[in-house]
Amino acid sequence: MAILIKHGTLVTASETFKADILVEGEKISLIGQDLTHPNAEEIDASGLLVLPGGVDPHVHLDLPMFNTVSSDDHYTGGKAAAFGGTTTVIDFVPQDEGTLAENIDRWRAKADPKASVDYGFHMNITRFDQAVAKEIFSLPDLGITSLKVFTAYNNRLRLSDGEIFRVMRVAHAAGILTLVHAENGDIIDILVDEALAAGNTEPYFHAKTRPAWGTVEASLRAAALAAQAGDAPLYLVHMNTGGEVDQLAYAQAHGLKMMGETCPQYLFFTEDDLRREDGAKWVCSPPMRKAKDNARLWEGVESQTIQVMATDHCPFFYDGTTPILYEGQPVAIPGKELGKDDFTKIPNGLPGVGDRMPIIWTEGVGTGRMTPNQFVAMHCTNPARIFGLYPQKGALIPGADADIALWDPNKAVTYGANVARHRTDYSLYEGWQLKGFPVKVFLRGKMIVDGENWYGSPGSGRYLHRQEGEILQ
Ligand code: URP
Ligand code: ZN
Ligand code: ZN
Repeated sequence: MAILIKHGTLVTASETFKADILVEGEKISLIGQDLTHPNAEEIDASGLLVLPGGVDPHVHLDLPMFNTVSSDDHYTGGKAAAFGGTTTVIDFVPQDEGTLAENIDRWRAKADPKASVDYGFHMNITRFDQAVAKEIFSLPDLGITSLKVFTAYNNRLRLSDGEIFRVMRVAHAAGILTLVHAENGDIIDILVDEALAAGNTEPYFHAKTRPAWGTVEASLRAAALAAQAGDAPLYLVHMNTGGEVDQLAYAQAHGLKMMGETCPQYLFFTEDDLRREDGAKWVCSPPMRKAKDNARLWEGVESQTIQVMATDHCPFFYDGTTPILYEGQPVAIPGKELGKDDFTKIPNGLPGVGDRMPIIWTEGVGTGRMTPNQFVAMHCTNPARIFGLYPQKGALIPGADADIALWDPNKAVTYGANVARHRTDYSLYEGWQLKGFPVKVFLRGKMIVDGENWYGSPGSGRYLHRQEGEILQ
């Protein structure tokens, strides 16, 4: 089966040009002018932009948390991603009981039958000993070339600085990129205890007990640990403070192999959103900060100090006692209401995987903060390169997977939960006026989104064996 996409304007990370694309089977086979093919299905992309399918390298699907589970699984999350132009996601494997390989098998057993877009895994390392050190070397054989460590969530996910240093050394030797969640776990625990003792249980205290300085200090600490671990490559996830941009720029100026991602929520919202009556909707970790942090993060995006726009997609229902209709069936999954009397019991996380590209197109490209090429770099090509998926993903070149988003830069949309396809009952962007939206999305040559229509299915996504990634600065 061949598809010929005619008369579109291709946007890559570095160029914009008019061309036709021939897709044969799962791959892009040819890009050129006035292409013909005897029996290809022709798609007229006049007036449309042709983008590589997006790559979101930070999602949590079907993740158990606080006696519930994140409300998008590998099917519904992939579907939401696709409606927003994203065709590849990278999820995190928690390190529960057993070996890393056993944990990865368990996560694949959940994901493989359901995945509706292509997906890879990062490995969380939250318990470290000699056996784990040895096993890290075999992660690339399983297609995993990045791992995540935490400087917060004491007694749960956090490793000590010494352990993080050891993980970074081992990871570096194994060709694996270390991702760091940077907050100060000790101080968070003290402040949480004090807040609860004082009867401060509202969502706002989620932000107040996780201070911005903790992320600034922990991000520089991570950089210093990586430097001492033989110049190990490092990637700062969910950058949320202006100070982290400063630390990332400092590390890069000192020649460290440090990269970073931010997420749309940290560009638009502040801790004041947690003061709203429905403030629990904004509870995620790390939390929203201040307007000056939004501004400095935008500067980090514009200056390309930050390489990637991810989402940290980890949705929960706002009111998990009231069902929504999902694909015609009522669905309710316990959510934020679990913490109505105590902010520490609000499941942490937000919907975002489907919002990422339309929101940043409007607010980034539409406002002149970034060019369409920078947009493609941050949402498609850079994450593919950093996470060892390039040029299979994130590229419009012959030989790449035919993951393509036909993008209408003039399509006006009043956005919200009814437009986003996340399996949850709210959107952070309810009522936002967007201009620019994907109208057709292809995954490996198969059209999975056509306007409002969905043609993907559980299992239409495939597990991706990732290679060692690149250092981009
Ligand atoms: O609140 C969030 N982001 N939950 C996911 C966990 C994490 O640290 O990324
Ligand atoms: Zn994190
Ligand atoms: Zn996360």
